[in-house]
Amino acid sequence: MFGKKKQKPQIDKEQLELIQNAQRRVRQKKRLYIHFVLFLIFALPLFTFNVGLGLADEFTLATFPWSVVIIFIWLAFLAWHFLNVFLFNAFMGKDWEQQQLNKLVAKQQARIEKLKKELKSEAPIIAESEAYIEEQILKNDQDITIIVAAGENNAIGKDNDLIWHLRDDLKRFKKLTSGHHIIMGRKTFESFPKPLPNRTHIVITRQKNYKVPEGVIIANSLEEAIVKSKADKQPFIIGGGEIYKQSMSIANKLELTRVHHSFEDADTFFPEVDSSVWEEISNTFHDKDENHEFAFSFITYERR
Ligand SMILES: NC(=O)c1ccc[n+]([C@@H]2O[C@H](COP(=O)([O-])OP(=O)(O)OC[C@H]3O[C@@H](n4cnc5c(N)ncnc54)[C@H](OP(=O)(O)O)[C@@H]3O)[C@@H](O)[C@H]2O)c1
Repeated sequence: MFGKKKQKPQIDKEQLELIQNAQRRVRQKKRLYIHFVLFLIFALPLFTFNVGLGLADEFTLATFPWSVVIIFIWLAFLAWHFLNVFLFNAFMGKDWEQQQLNKLVAKQQARIEKLKKELKSEAPIIAESEAYIEEQILKNDQDITIIVAAGENNAIGKDNDLIWHLRDDLKRFKKLTSGHHIIMGRKTFESFPKPLPNRTHIVITRQKNYKVPEGVIIANSLEEAIVKSKADKQPFIIGGGEIYKQSMSIANKLELTRVHHSFEDADTFFPEVDSSVWEEISNTFHDKDENHEFAFSFITYERR
């Protein structure tokens, strides 16, 4: 009952075969090396005894001293050994290679079949969840609102930060978004020192194990973020560039702070506001002053 458990091999047959062949190859090379060393050890003394010291120098073959003949014959053997290891026996031969290839192809085909089967069984689940999200968005009765501050050239940020500091714009942002869900891209979320108080954060990321502080919600797509904000009648999409671009077609309200300056060194931009799609509802100008380096306008748009 408590007998020794039979050890299961950890590697499969093909891997074992590969390892054994690699070991055989190492042994072949080792033998060639030893052959070469023996040749070096014996060839020189042989030559010295025979030619240098005149040992049995009366024996010659076709006028060559006997040691030179032996060295030449040995050299020929050595060359043959070398060719055998590196040329004729280059790895394990064509048949062996073909066998390995066939095995690998058969293995891959089996894997593909298995994956196809898995995909078939998962497809209805994926389709169902996508259809659910689409349905939720279609019957959505929320006021999905984009809130953004953009320069005259649509600049919104640089180096994952804002380019300006406008006190009254921040105040307005706080006033409008407080108590609501705020939906943002992962990069915008990371530009905050910490989550903003009194708002439910939904962070969009493609990462599966993205870690966030307690209370922050993760969504793997904009659609999922909208579904997760459905308890809120007016969720705000607060950026950044990637998320604004994707949400222009699903938002029905736009709170734009137009900063009256062109920020040429920006690296993130808001999409063009198309007046055939967006109707201007209100527009309030704010001049520059000691707290505001640039003049700006609060403009509210609604989808036509
Ligand atoms: N002026 C403004 O009003 C304002 C407002 C907000 C932000 N900003 C500025 O905008 C800049 C950041 O914008 P950004 O465009 O670089 O980044 P972002 O839109 O904030 O975030 C981009 C990230 O969101 C995730 N993402 C995007 N689309 C996705 C999708 N369909 N599904 C799943 N995840 C998705 C990806 O995260 P993963 O890489 O983790 O997958 C992507 O890297 C900063 O400079 C910031 O200061 C300006």
